[in-house]
Amino acid sequence: MSRIAYVNGSYRPLSEPLIDVEDRGYQFGDGIYEVWGVYRGALMDAEGHVARLQRSLRELRIAMPMTTAALMIILKEVQRRNRVSEGYLYLQITRGVAPRDHAFPSPQRRPIVVVTAKQVDPAFAEEKARNGVSIITTPEIRWARRDIKTINLLPNVLAKQAAREAGAVEAWFVTDEGLVTEGSSSNAWIVDENGVLRTAPLSNAILHGVTRAALTTLAEQHQIRIEERSFTKEDALTAREAFLTSASNVAIPIVRIDGREIGGGTPGPVAKLLRDAYYGAA
Ligand code: PDD
Repeated sequence: MSRIAYVNGSYRPLSEPLIDVEDRGYQFGDGIYEVWGVYRGALMDAEGHVARLQRSLRELRIAMPMTTAALMIILKEVQRRNRVSEGYLYLQITRGVAPRDHAFPSPQRRPIVVVTAKQVDPAFAEEKARNGVSIITTPEIRWARRDIKTINLLPNVLAKQAAREAGAVEAWFVTDEGLVTEGSSSNAWIVDENGVLRTAPLSNAILHGVTRAALTTLAEQHQIRIEERSFTKEDALTAREAFLTSASNVAIPIVRIDGREIGGGTPGPVAKLLRDAYYGAA
């Protein structure tokens, strides 16, 4: 079955040429994206991702090209046409097509909207959840507006590639001050040596993860001591637990950072509890 994408009003096979060479997303990374996890056919945290999408667009002064209701219909149609029951939906909106010039085109162009979907075998994530994963750390070299979910992801791409070459699945960015901000495509968490669940506070330094927000609420509901307070790489190395969160993987325990074992090298209870709670199984 060939995969189908929504591109500006029509549903087309991915194999067709779909994007203009002068799309500003292609030329400048001038656009934003969102990712919804799909679990048992349902879009997870649908409204949270829409709210962040609207915020990202506002911050870049790109007009929301359709109503939320219309967007939801398109997302579900792309999901249906690609028969995705487990996996994710990807949405990208760019500032449109215009002759190459760094400044915004005048008059404004119609934003280019693309939606794709991918079926993923849940066994992959379950295996990571069961055994834990290795990560590395890497210097924080990104720009100062990491709260905007832009498609401008070159430092994240380089960090993920460094992780892969080291046999790891993720790279945590560490600032010059030694603080962990987040991963290349996930938020970063520890249960510190005092048993306090910690993740960096919301600011321009991190993406405001929708999964992060959901797990923060779940942690409170389960009376887990939680502080939205930054931690250092050293805090992580001595932590009882470490884990990462994202829409595509929910919560994945980390058992090794830069080759050093965390929590005795086995996944800890807090990551498991939050993962199960998120899926409604706790
Ligand atoms: N990544 N931080 C970064 C830099 C991210 O790219 C992501 C998501 C997150 C977690 O956000 P959320 O819980 O809302 O997915 C944090 C997506 C999944 C991606 O790039 O594919």
